[in-house]
Amino acid sequence: MSTAEWEPVGCRQRKIRHANVPPQIEAHRYVSPVDSDIFVRVSAKKRIAVIPGDGIGKEVIPQAVRVLEAVGADLAFTHFDWGADRYLADKTTVPPDGFAMLGRDFDAILVGAFGDPRVPSNIHAKEILLGMRFKMDLYANIRPVRLMDASLCPLKGVEPKDVDFVVIRENTEGVYTDAGGVFKQGTPDEIAVQEDINTRKGVERIIRYAFEYCERHTKSDGSKRGRVLMCDKSNAMTHAGGLWQRVFKEVAGENPQIKAEHMYVDALCMQMVRDPRQFDVIVTNNMFGDIITDLAAGLQGGLGMAASGNIHPGKTSMFEPVHGSAPPIAGKNVANPLGAILTAAMMLAHLGMASEAARIEGAVLEAVRQKKVTQDVGGSLGTREAGEWVARNVSGRVS
Ligand code: NAD
Ligand code: IPM
Ligand code: MN
Repeated sequence: MSTAEWEPVGCRQRKIRHANVPPQIEAHRYVSPVDSDIFVRVSAKKRIAVIPGDGIGKEVIPQAVRVLEAVGADLAFTHFDWGADRYLADKTTVPPDGFAMLGRDFDAILVGAFGDPRVPSNIHAKEILLGMRFKMDLYANIRPVRLMDASLCPLKGVEPKDVDFVVIRENTEGVYTDAGGVFKQGTPDEIAVQEDINTRKGVERIIRYAFEYCERHTKSDGSKRGRVLMCDKSNAMTHAGGLWQRVFKEVAGENPQIKAEHMYVDALCMQMVRDPRQFDVIVTNNMFGDIITDLAAGLQGGLGMAASGNIHPGKTSMFEPVHGSAPPIAGKNVANPLGAILTAAMMLAHLGMASEAARIEGAVLEAVRQKKVTQDVGGSLGTREAGEWVARNVSGRVS
């Protein structure tokens, strides 16, 4: 054990930060049974809750776990069966105390997808997935959009360097709060109200997160990020849009080194397919973020390539591919596991394991270049075989 792993502290209860751990990650403490209480060990082992969920989630997440094992990251996995099968068996979506347990006992959560035709209400997806986002207050949904190879982009003349932006989606408010109601249901006078909830606190923290993200993160080629674009529909949705506009201007004013830009969401969709080069960091509300990240996934080679992290700095955060459970292709060994594998790399980077994350991303890039991938991205491998190729590559057994 290197001396760098040990830090003297005044008492057992004092929280410490390790030099190599990003400030948002609280060091995981271990009191040495050998040495005195004045030393705590910053344990490298991170506890990961794995929730594959439904459909192709159950196929891609095992491949992501396999790659995490192959890269040699010091992780301890605990698997959970939350999803449609469990719900249909015993009506459990999230066991009592489930979210508190995740926050207390784990450093990160790796999730597949939820959605099953046998549960048309989608109640389990709402309670498990949106439950984690809302009840664990994972307010920043980070969705990187990176083209790995020109052949994957449906736009002509677009190179990997042209598509390297990130969408920062507000993850705990907006229309997703499901506030509202249905009145006079089944009558000709039926009324459905779906409220769009935007709080000053919620809007401000996601906009600040976007500026901080822009400041701290580089593009894949190492060049600096320098622009934050706020996307809204303030020309029509004036109350919520007005709040976003005011807060954005205020936070932009505090960050003059970053260029602040704005686009209405409809215009942004058009620009994203006309010229994706112009985007750097995009910040937007929950629903627009959902929609534009599926569009953006199209630029990367489809939903099978898109990764995401649901983050609250300093709290247990959750990582999931952007795609859903894709029932029509589930169980056929055809789903692309790369989005889930890139999601696992995001999780490692978040946990302070940057070199392991980079090795996984490098192996995925190589798989894409050599077409050792599934059919949706131009290869002929199955889900398991594509995962195996990346796993073998990260552990150095493939040249
Ligand atoms: P979807 O993402 O499951 O599928 C959309 C399209 O992309 C389909 O053509 C599908 O075959 C394809 N696709 C998705 N992932 C792929 C992969 N890894 N490899 C290859 N092709 C892939 O979206 P949908 O069809 O709108 O939704 C299906 C179910 O998933 C619904 O119940 C929906 O609510 C749910 N859903 C869940 C999540 C989540 O849990 N995070 C996200 C989106 C949708
Ligand atoms: C996503 C999904 C979810 C969302 C669904 C399943 C509720 O589409 O993660 O993008 O809309 O957020
Ligand atoms: Mn979505």
